[in-house]
This record gives sequence, structure tokens and C-alpha cells, in this order.
Amino acid sequence: MSFTADTLLLFGATGDLARRMLLPSLCALDAENLLPENLRIVGTARSDMSDSEYRNFAREAVEKFLPHDRRGGIADFLNRLHYQPNDVTTSEGFDELAKQVGDSKDKLAIFLSTAPSLFETSIAGLSRVGLAGEGVRIGLEKPLGVDLASSCEINDAVAAAFPERRIFRIDHYLGKETVQNLLALRFANILFEPLWNAQHIAHVQITVGETVGLEDRADFYDQTGALRDMVQNHMLQLLALVAMEPPTSFGSGAVRDEKVKALRALRPLSAGESVTGQYRGGAVGGKIVPGYDEELGRDSDTETFVALKAHVDNWRWKGVPFYLRTGKRLPERVTEIVVQFRSVPHSIFEGARMQPNRLVIGIQPEENITLSLMAKVPGLDREGIALRPVPLDIAMPDAFTGTYKRIAYERLLLDLIEGDQTLFVRRDEVEAQWSWIDAIRAEWAKEKLQPKPYSAGSWGPSAAIALAERDGVSWHE
Ligand code: BG6
Repeated sequence: MSFTADTLLLFGATGDLARRMLLPSLCALDAENLLPENLRIVGTARSDMSDSEYRNFAREAVEKFLPHDRRGGIADFLNRLHYQPNDVTTSEGFDELAKQVGDSKDKLAIFLSTAPSLFETSIAGLSRVGLAGEGVRIGLEKPLGVDLASSCEINDAVAAAFPERRIFRIDHYLGKETVQNLLALRFANILFEPLWNAQHIAHVQITVGETVGLEDRADFYDQTGALRDMVQNHMLQLLALVAMEPPTSFGSGAVRDEKVKALRALRPLSAGESVTGQYRGGAVGGKIVPGYDEELGRDSDTETFVALKAHVDNWRWKGVPFYLRTGKRLPERVTEIVVQFRSVPHSIFEGARMQPNRLVIGIQPEENITLSLMAKVPGLDREGIALRPVPLDIAMPDAFTGTYKRIAYERLLLDLIEGDQTLFVRRDEVEAQWSWIDAIRAEWAKEKLQPKPYSAGSWGPSAAIALAERDGVSWHE
């Protein structure tokens, strides 16, 4: 049933994600009059708070994390907010929650921004008090499990109360503008698609570099590591969007059908196709930072960096490696996709240095798309023609002036409220992602692979550079 929610029920309403992302996103949407006029937002968490205390909490969050010019009439936004304490591990609170939701139970969007260990009891509580009916949809924040088995367990628990068409699994990368723009680039232009295959593409690189270290999630991160924190979800979603076949429409079924096919075509990695690392002390952005163990306060074998050479086993991508790398404490915060085309089959420019075309899709910090083309260097060329690559640059903020960088959750929360699943991850996708990741981890365990040290502020261990260089490829920097 398609409906626009008139209440948004936010579990984990006092948590870090709510403070940094969810409340600022909702306020920004409200400032643009994009929220349904009568939408109520009910926050719930364990702490005891009144509505007005929660509104103060939200005001502080918005003032800290949303730029001034995007806030609009913050008082109107705060008036939408209510708060209901609930300890999900006990059953009483749910009755109060149901009272608070009232008639909205027929047009309700719920967002579980809590630890997944609480999903099962939360869902049981919601079902018991009648908050899981046809008029309720549920959003789930990552991580959805730590491996395929635990992810299936969570998915089964959710499926016991909600059919797939009412489950919205978040991967916030899908809410990023340039990630969606990847679909526009591929499927709204005739230029790229005929070349988008093994015949014309030599390899693809996907980099997600972060300068931050453990931040304030030491225990979570140490139990998770870079492979499960970043590759299992965000990077595989980016890979799926690059590798998938053209969907028949921008509808949720069509897009997700094609993504899952690409994910299922991922070949299990062979030995030597992955490198892990852990940062030691160093300098990032001119600031001295401690090593991982020191930051954590104990020894650990958790990887903070991973580089992989992946393969998508189908006709389109036969023989085209997808190099993926991500890590903490790298020299810059950058997310980009590099599509490296092959050389021209025959050069007529004798003696001129040719470079194959390259498409770089920058997702963050800047949103831009650069295509490098060969051009003639101006001059009389007495010694033969000279060529040089020149960039054809599209800086998205310049191309679309008057727009601003949105928080990824703005798009996703609005889609949850309005019921559009296109940018949410379907169960079969999550499971395909985990199957591939589990096989990598099993291989690491078999090989007793230990992360190699790298200095904070470098691009990971030298083995990661060698992983690409063995194939004559350099990571794009
Ligand atoms: C989260 C990871 O999913 O994504 C974090 O758990 C990571 O470790 C974050 O820092 C990166 O997101 P973004 O949007 O800043 O690239």
C-alpha cells in the first residue's frame, strides 16, 4: 500500500546518528517545506525526557550540525517533535508508545537507529502493540549483522512482522547525490554505455579514503574492521551501480534486480587478491596522530585498511579488475570511482605519448566528474605532433548553482516517509554482499593474515600499491 506517513517514530532518538544526521536532515527538509504538513516526529530512547527536553536536545543538534542558512524556522520544526521514553528490553514502554502514535498506526514510518542487537525485541514489542500492520513501514540502520548468518537472523526477525515491501534498509551512500548521479551519467547519456564493458574498459578503481581514526566508536570499530564497516555495504553498493546492467526503469524493483545480479556475479577472491593494514602513528593533515593500538588502548589485529582486486564474472566485465581500497587515517577524505578506458587500437600519431581516456567520478569531498581526453598541444609541431591529456571537468556545484550539498539522510528519510524503496537495500542484495565478504574473511582466517602496518597519513601498506602495480596499474591520486 502506498501512503505518506503522518508520524515518524525514531528509535535511538538521543543517539549519535540522530544528533549528527537525522534531526538536522529533518529540520533541513522542513525548512524547504518538503515534510508532509502535519508530520509528527516521535523520538524514543531509554533516557527519561519530556517533550520540551527533547526539543532542546534537537535544537542543540540542529544548531551544531546544520548550516545556518538551511535551518529555516527552527521553532516550527521543534513543534513537530515529541518524546516517549521506552526501554525496548522491557515490554511496558511499547503500550505508551502505541498511545503516543494513536491513529497514525495506519500511516506510520519507523526508523530503527539502534544497535541491531535490539532490532528483534523492538520488532516483537511493536508487533505486540499493533505497530506493525499494513500502514507501517520500517527503516533499519546498518550494521545488519556481522556475517551472512547473523544478517539472516536479523532479516528473519524483521520479516516475521514486516514483508519486504515495507522494509527499508539504509545504506547512506545511496542517499549521496553523486552516487545517484552515477545512474544519470550511465543511463541518461548515450556516450558511455556503448563503451561500458570489457572491450573498452581496462579496469575500475573505487577508493573511499578517510582521515579520521577511531572517533568515539572504538569497541564497535575494533569488532568490525574496514572490510565489514565499509566494503560490505558502501563500496559494494558503488561497485554494483558501476557494474550493473541497465535497469528497465528507475523503479525500486528494476534497479535492485540489476544490482543484485552484479553482486552475485562477484567471484570469490583468490589468495593474493587482498591486502589488509593497520595504521601506526604518523601525521594527517599536518597533525600528529597516534597509532591504532595506542588510540584503542590495547593490542588488536583489526584491519583499518583494506585493498582488494575484485572480479565480476559475467560477459560485460570478463577480465576487468575492480580495485577497491578504503582505510582510516589516509592522507585525504576522498570517495571516487575511476573508470580507466583502454588505449586506442592503433595510434596514427607516431612518436606521440598517448594516454588512454579516464573517467573520474568524485563523490566527496567535492562532487565532480572529470573525463580526460587527449588533445594536441598548440604549436607548429616541427618535431612531430605533441599530445597531452586535458580534463573535461564538470564541477557539479558550478553546473547547478543555487543548490547545496545535502546530508545523505535527507533523501533517505523523505523516501522512507513517502514509501519509495529505490535507494534502499533489498534483502537479497545484503545477503549477496555478506556471502562474498564471508568468503574473504574465511580465506584470511585460513591464511592467518595479519594487517600490515602503515603510517597514518599514507595510502596504506606498500603491498596495496603492489597489488595494483603487479598488473601495471597505479592507484589514482
Ligand atoms: C559509516 C562507517 O558507515 O560510514 C564509518 O561506519 C565511516 O566508519 C562512515 O566513517 C563514512 O561515511 P561518509 O559519508 O563520511 O563517507
